[in-house]
Amino acid sequence: MRIAVVDGRSDEPADRRLFEGFVAAQAASMASLHDGASGAWSVDELREMRRSRTDFVYADRAALVDEDVAGMLAVALPQHDNRDKAMVMLHVRPEHRRRGIGDALMAEAEAIAHAHDRSVLMASTDSDAGRDDVGETFARRHGFALAQTMLASHLALPADRPALEQMTANDRAAPYELEVAWDRLPTDWLADRAVLSARMSTDAPQGDLSWDEETWTAERVAEDAERVVKSGRRLLEVVARDTATARLVGFTRITVPIAEPEVGYQQDTLVLREARGHGLGLRMKATAALALMDEMPGTRKVLTWNADDNGSMLAVNRKLGCTVDGIQREWERRLDTF
Ligand SMILES: CC(C)(COP(=O)(O)OP(=O)(O)OC[C@H]1O[C@@H](n2cnc3c(N)ncnc32)[C@H](O)[C@@H]1OP(=O)(O)O)[C@@H](O)C(=O)NCCC(=O)NCCS
Repeated sequence: MRIAVVDGRSDEPADRRLFEGFVAAQAASMASLHDGASGAWSVDELREMRRSRTDFVYADRAALVDEDVAGMLAVALPQHDNRDKAMVMLHVRPEHRRRGIGDALMAEAEAIAHAHDRSVLMASTDSDAGRDDVGETFARRHGFALAQTMLASHLALPADRPALEQMTANDRAAPYELEVAWDRLPTDWLADRAVLSARMSTDAPQGDLSWDEETWTAERVAEDAERVVKSGRRLLEVVARDTATARLVGFTRITVPIAEPEVGYQQDTLVLREARGHGLGLRMKATAALALMDEMPGTRKVLTWNADDNGSMLAVNRKLGCTVDGIQREWERRLDTF
């Protein structure tokens, strides 16, 4: 076994083949942990992240056995904030497990973190209910501590339209208006959306994760939306505007791969603390579900992940009709020899 550097930005045929093997290894590993959709990213999406993201730099490695990719390691290095962190994604194909490949890739992850002055490693492991979270023992053995447990759920589509319409009407007398955008975010959203993204990184339950507040600007929000579209996904956002101040006080976001639109991904949802208690979370998510049903009727489910102690978001999801599929564990490790 040898470990090779992977360059997802290169157009050289040999580099592209290696990157495809790297992505296929991740997908095969994830498929072994899930009954249905695993949430694996496609080659095009992952290449686009490596080509155009300025908020993260990626260090990618492949574990090669007889020149086939048996395992993959991606270390994402935040550039704007959290510059002490390194996020580790590490997968070994099921047929190559328990032969030391995971250990070798984790040693490589530590070396990358040291080389980039990162003192905190973060990783996640997950599995559907009834399956083993094979990464749990591995993570503990490598000195990671459990920092947060998330529930993975899905909303089956098409959902009950009249029920969703009723949820969107629930305004509890407060003066909020909802706006919907596809793919390109309106320019007059961007400054407020930057505040919402920054607050997303602190106001959503963090468990014991030491993630610091993220730095967001209007430019970063626009660039991020552009990258989602360039990577081949539709982007749907719903925001809530307080008509008294004209400020945005909440948002929710779903992305759907155009090549495989059957499964969409619920990403952030946030209502600013000061605007909570008005049913905005449910109203925004119901509005998003209706917009998705209208625009992309081929989407059959939306996957979502929420902290297990996020009672209000989980209650919203229950009302929407979400079903829990499994759990995801978030791990953190301080590199003590730093
Ligand atoms: C976790 C994973 C990366 C391990 O890969 P691997 O190549 O099998 O790991 P190794 O052979 O180097 O195992 C190292 C040690 O981890 C522990 N370990 C690994 N898999 C384990 C399992 N299924 N059950 C119990 N312990 C396990 C063992 O202590 C093992 O040493 P041993 O085989 O001498 O007992 C692999 O199972 C995988 O891809 N899982 C899905 C993704 C994931 O959870 N990644 C971890 C992110 S931190």
